[in-house]
Amino acid sequence: MANKLVVGNMKMNLSYDEIEEYIDRMQGYQDCIICPSYIYVPYFIDSGFTTGVQDVASYDNGSYTGEVSAKQLASLGVKYTIIGHSERRELFNDTDALIKEKIIKALTNNLKVILCVGETLTERENDQAKKKIADQLLTDLKDIDNINDDNLIIAYEPIWAIGTGKVPSNDDIDEIISYIKELTNKEYHINPKVLYGGSTNDANIKELAQIKSVDGFLVGGACLVPDKFIKIIEAVR
Ligand code: PGA
Repeated sequence: MANKLVVGNMKMNLSYDEIEEYIDRMQGYQDCIICPSYIYVPYFIDSGFTTGVQDVASYDNGSYTGEVSAKQLASLGVKYTIIGHSERRELFNDTDALIKEKIIKALTNNLKVILCVGETLTERENDQAKKKIADQLLTDLKDIDNINDDNLIIAYEPIWAIGTGKVPSNDDIDEIISYIKELTNKEYHINPKVLYGGSTNDANIKELAQIKSVDGFLVGGACLVPDKFIKIIEAVR
């Protein structure tokens, strides 16, 4: 149960004052990977956090208004990027083809990738969860030959569990995580860490941390509240 990874996905939350307070409160807990909005990245890096971002451009530089590249992020000291979060897939039209381009750019610039995959409720109810996840992994990572156990992390996030307070049973999570591990081993000959994400909080972390196959957690809502996030970090240390 010890030494599982904890990643915080802050999404588009908190103002500058709140970030200052957050960083103060999180002193001593910089061993998580925190993914704030781009604008706050330097504050977290300067305060000793292992820092990631929530998305990355599929280009290195040029006339791409509003985008931030892996090259720029790496030059600042960013270590990780989430790619393919379901909110990006659904709301911003991040297709599997685009996700693959983003992964390539991240890896080329030495950012480690946290690739999110997961099924909708309808897919789960129709027994299509594994198929959906296999489709995502087989397209997103196809022919990328520099992925390895160190530069790729997979996050299993059932879409119906994100921000809803609903969490699959430990057995259901274990089944999918084990499936992801088998598939990445068979298809890509790698053994990446696989995280669980979706309504992880300070009340359910002890239970979730029992799942042996889970290598860590991608935490959304609960990472915004230092008291809750600290409990999560402490529970898996
Ligand atoms: P949640 O979000 O913990 O608020 O469900 C997880 C995520 O979207 O990564």
